Amino acid sequence: MECMEVIQGRRSVRKFKDRAVGKEIIEELVKAAQMAPSAGNLQARDFIIVTNKITKQKLTKAALGQSFIEQAPIVIVAVANIERSSRIYRSRGELYATQDATAGIENMLLAAYSMGLGTCWIGAFDENAVSELFGIPDKTLPVAIIPVGYPDEQPAMPPRIAMERLVHWETW
Ligand SMILES: Cc1cc2nc3c(=O)[nH]c(=O)nc-3n(C[C@H](O)[C@H](O)[C@H](O)COP(=O)(O)O)c2cc1C
Repeated sequence: MECMEVIQGRRSVRKFKDRAVGKEIIEELVKAAQMAPSAGNLQARDFIIVTNKITKQKLTKAALGQSFIEQAPIVIVAVANIERSSRIYRSRGELYATQDATAGIENMLLAAYSMGLGTCWIGAFDENAVSELFGIPDKTLPVAIIPVGYPDEQPAMPPRIAMERLVHWETW
């Protein structure tokens, strides 16, 4: 697929087929995330891959009951590694690690779509509950829960804000 075709075609998918996703596909998604830019190339992002049913149920609970999480065959938790970034960037490390992680997430979502998979970026969850569930250390922050699976729905594109309202030529 052409790059713009992938960018425009990707949708948030919240209904998945009961079909497994192979380990090699997950590795491809992580590779896509690794290729994203990062501040100082520190790659201050980590990914937890979840297949365990009970862990997925706990993630659903931590994410305010968004039950499609546990219906996905694979769930990836993206973590901003503030510790890795702030070693060099001190107080900017938190912002940079979050950006490193989120750049990786978007690559992952696009790569998944290009491989026929559906994903959804989930940001509404209890960070403390997720950190506790996985034993995520201090100075690392879970930023997104991403269910991954073969789509069982084809959502329409939610409307976008008109370009004229977003783009400020030369000045605000
Ligand atoms: C930071 C962030 C947090 C989000 N959190 C949730 C969420 O908790 N639950 C959910 O169903 N979708 C969530 N989404 C997905 C958005 O609802 C979705 O991207 C938006 O409606 C546009 O639809 P599209 O992804 O199909 O283009 C989130 C997206 C982002 C970027």
